[in-house]
Amino acid sequence: TTHRIAVIPGDGIGREVVPAGMEALEATAGRFGITLEFDTFDFASADYWQRHGTMLPTDWEETLRSYDAIFFGAVGWPEVVPDHVSLWGSLLQFRRTFDQYVNLRPCRLMPGVRSPLAGREPGDIDFVVVRENTEGEYSSIGGRIFEGTERETVLQETVMTRVGVDRVLRFAFEQAARRPKQHLTSATKSNGISISMPYWDERVAEMKGQFPAVRVDKFHIDALAAQFVLHPEWFDVVVASNLFGDILSDLGPACTGTLGIAPSANINPERDHPSLFEPVHGSAPDIAGRGIANPVGQIWCGSMMLEHLGHPEAAAHLLAAIEKVLSYGPGEAPLTPDLHGKGTTAELGRAIADQVRQA
Ligand code: NAI
Ligand code: MG
Repeated sequence: TTHRIAVIPGDGIGREVVPAGMEALEATAGRFGITLEFDTFDFASADYWQRHGTMLPTDWEETLRSYDAIFFGAVGWPEVVPDHVSLWGSLLQFRRTFDQYVNLRPCRLMPGVRSPLAGREPGDIDFVVVRENTEGEYSSIGGRIFEGTERETVLQETVMTRVGVDRVLRFAFEQAARRPKQHLTSATKSNGISISMPYWDERVAEMKGQFPAVRVDKFHIDALAAQFVLHPEWFDVVVASNLFGDILSDLGPACTGTLGIAPSANINPERDHPSLFEPVHGSAPDIAGRGIANPVGQIWCGSMMLEHLGHPEAAAHLLAAIEKVLSYGPGEAPLTPDLHGKGTTAELGRAIADQVRQA
């Protein structure tokens, strides 16, 4: 099988971790008889913005639409382009235009990685956050009136559609049904947000009828945030609206160690459009250019991409190689400084690619 992959390194450490991700992907593809054709694009970056005054070329949509997946680094370089411009001008366009309505973020405590939470061992924390990615609190409906006066008033509406809520819930229930624990947790706030959140709860209850094997519970978002930190081992699949999911999907990976290892996928489950795979972290201007960024988040994204493209065994093999190399610890493996080692991005990427070929 041949898959065409659009590669967008973006800014900062995106350009450093993406090559490591491609190397690991190529090693994995080679072992499993998969052909990956990579085309690299320079748009969705501060450089591109400096040269063209926009983040994307006018034909970006037809260009990217012809690919099976998008392998994305990170976008953002606040010295050159304000973050809301770089983000709305690129990633958010991709998510909405390609209807990537699921944002999937695995949170797993990996061997060799210290959790900031005391007493947790690898295996204790292993859950996924499923975030609604196209509607909800992140709508552009609203406005400002009486600007600059004492009556200044700002309004921004939450939008929940039945189709939009049901499709992300269905994806989350399907994930839960496939996992050993078959447990789904819904994030709500129906005690305070009295119109949209009770509707969300109602749709969860309705969907539950179609998945009798899945155990379902719900928490208000404030309590849920606390439980992520106090009892992360309680969770299996956590489904949330756009805003709640955004917060949980940063908190979850934070509980499992460094930001540098956390992956995410923006998925169009129907495969009508390409899905996009990107690490949770950004362009990290504070360490960019030094070759010390952790490439594991980007490489793990490669595993998620292989899974999405229909190669679960190759995906599992790559993930196992990541776990193996991390488990050697900073003494034996070239782990990057965020993992208390002295390795570089390229060295850690190479070690994982080697492990893929050997195992
Ligand atoms: P960031 O994730 O880039 O960095 C936060 C901290 O984590 C920094 O101290 C950084 O050095 C560290 N870090 C991040 N990734 C790492 C890695 N792979 N290895 C080792 N350490 C790592 O978040 P920040 O600083 O808030 O944002 C920087 C820029 O990135 C901004 O322009 C922001 O808008 C953008 N950004 C883009 C995202 C995306 O493309 N999806 C996501 C988050 C931020
Ligand atoms: Mg976020």
